Amino acid sequence: MTRRGAAVAAAVAGLAIVAVVVAALVARGGDTPAIELPRSYATPAPGAYAKPLGTSVRLDAARTDAAYLRLWLAGYTSVTPENAMKWEVVEPSRNAFDFSAADAIVTAARRAGQRVRGHTLTWDVQLPGWVQSRAWTAADMELALRSHVRATVGHFRGRVAQWDVVNEPLDDDGSLTRSVFARVLGERFIDIAFDEAHRADPRAKLFLNEIATELPGPKQDALVALVRRLQARDVPIDGVGLQDHSVAVGGPDQRRLEADIARFARLGLDVELTEVDVAVRPGEPEAAQARNYRAAAAACRRSRACTGLTVWGVTDRWSWQGPGARATPFDAASRPKPAWRALRAAMRRVRRDSR
Ligand code: G3I
Repeated sequence: MTRRGAAVAAAVAGLAIVAVVVAALVARGGDTPAIELPRSYATPAPGAYAKPLGTSVRLDAARTDAAYLRLWLAGYTSVTPENAMKWEVVEPSRNAFDFSAADAIVTAARRAGQRVRGHTLTWDVQLPGWVQSRAWTAADMELALRSHVRATVGHFRGRVAQWDVVNEPLDDDGSLTRSVFARVLGERFIDIAFDEAHRADPRAKLFLNEIATELPGPKQDALVALVRRLQARDVPIDGVGLQDHSVAVGGPDQRRLEADIARFARLGLDVELTEVDVAVRPGEPEAAQARNYRAAAAACRRSRACTGLTVWGVTDRWSWQGPGARATPFDAASRPKPAWRALRAAMRRVRRDSR
């Protein structure tokens, strides 16, 4: 291990160093080369965390930024491919699938013993042109949606523990977003996506993933009402993903998040905090960011219904919000912030945690 590599691994110190010697990975499918894992790298000690602690991963970063790769492997026990499983990537033209980018991430994650969250089967963003611009009939849209879900979930069957089957179906006022799916099929597109995902992998847990529903209001109420309608129609939904993209000053505190989780738990659902990041605006203290990361981890850990927490982005350099938002637990130079220490400490397993 190089001196810098040792420093990086030490930067996430407190974790048992499990030397994992792996052969170079063989690329699967398409023409996207695999992620070359280091000859040895750190991973969290088995049972280090009370719940799965994940991060989203970008393939371009994992393949070009050695520090990013090491921090992903050393700090986390779960992964969500940030873009590699989205429709525009896996089915760029109808019935022509390329899972090679996602396979590179999933293969590396499973080699490192990580859980995988699939993201996302149905969203009105990052769609290929043939989906967005076609003059659809309801019957043809259903065929295309079922085919996409069946092929994608089927390809990863047994390797993906949870799927974000539908992402962000609601507008901020709680109404159904006028996506191409909703325009053609109405709310039934959600039923179709979940039904097909369950057929393709009955053991995968199926989630509805939503943004900005961590605070009480019309959107959270609408999400509860939507879930109730889906359950009344026997849609196989297992959980809700609360993304929890927040800000350092004014983000939801632990009590708020525990109340959110409890509200969906009362519907019989699992809850994941699926995309946690905390943007720090100019003049705001990093301590406030650390407090919010700690609050999210503590709320998940204390809530039986919470099945895991995923941070959205490994380092500020590759964050979807740009380095200037300083939203992740590691800065643009891959150095840990107070947020990392707070997040990890709050998720660390202690004796009283249930097995
Ligand atoms: O792949 C192209 C590349 O070929 C091109 O050179 C480059 C520059 O234009 O763009 C690349 O596509 C970008 C893609 O990320 C992959 O890097 C898109 O422009 C960019 O818009 C896209 O951003 C992603 C965003 O979703 C899209 O809305 C972010 O990385 C991703 O973190 C973000 O994640 C979403 C979740 O999926 C759902 N919840 C909200 C969250 C934040 O928007």
